[in-house]
Amino acid sequence: MSDAGSELGLDSGALHGRMLQVARLATIGEMAAGVAHELNQPLTAIANYANACERLLAHPDAELEEVRRALREVASQAVRASEILRRLRALARSQPIERAWVDMNSVITEILQLMQSDARVHGAQLALELAEGLPRVSVDRVQIQHVILNLVRNGLEAVATSGAASPQVRIGSACSGSFVEVSVRDNGPGLAAEARERMFDPFFSTKASGTGLGLPISHTVVSAHGGTLGYRANQPHGACFYVLLPSEKAAV
Ligand SMILES: Nc1ncnc2c1ncn2[C@@H]1O[C@H](COP(=O)(O)OP(=O)(O)OP(=O)(O)O)[C@@H](O)[C@H]1O
Ligand SMILES: [Mg+2]
Repeated sequence: MSDAGSELGLDSGALHGRMLQVARLATIGEMAAGVAHELNQPLTAIANYANACERLLAHPDAELEEVRRALREVASQAVRASEILRRLRALARSQPIERAWVDMNSVITEILQLMQSDARVHGAQLALELAEGLPRVSVDRVQIQHVILNLVRNGLEAVATSGAASPQVRIGSACSGSFVEVSVRDNGPGLAAEARERMFDPFFSTKASGTGLGLPISHTVVSAHGGTLGYRANQPHGACFYVLLPSEKAAV
């Protein structure tokens, strides 16, 4: 990789930056057909509900509650369509990649407040289990923070809807050989067989208002860092997503 970088006259930071951008654009390319299909659903629903409103209002004694219900559907379908576009725009945005050697624990604690307020909203507890003395990792801090946020949000959404007695999401860091591992564990229901197979497929979602882009985008970002995003069942139950990133130990 460093050979390719020097041929192109790029230092390794710039090369990694390009790779990350290329990986993102490739993902968008793969998604294009899905995007058209996926946007078509809320748009068709909006058109149908709007037509229904018009028909309902044509009656002199129109059932206003029916009209209100249809309008609420129009609004929620429009939010879904714009959420799909917002996430794709964020993915395509070609902001400069800032890769630097960082301490993974500080990457996590920097977004702790944000995650904690998310946890409160979901009525869940957030716990940190950070290992000390971790080797540094070379990452785009903001991109990796997005990945962690996606995983934590998924965990919070899972425990909030599972009716667990003490809903909880735990974020851990650890050194694993020449990798640093970040794990996000929850005590929700865990992934069903279909979700385990399809979780990285763009637009696969089991949630009424999910875009199904959180995990595929996270997977792209982690792969572009030379890392792995994986899943294992949590014990005794629940989901455990882990991110393995090559550390400075791998660089020597
Ligand atoms: N912690 C988890 N527990 C149980 N199921 C999960 C968990 N994380 C992900 N999943 C499953 O994987 C699917 C895909 O997740 P992904 O983050 O890609 O999309 P989403 O969460 O449905 O939508 P979005 O991220 O746009 O809100 C989810 O719909 C859910 O079925
Ligand atoms: Mg998600």
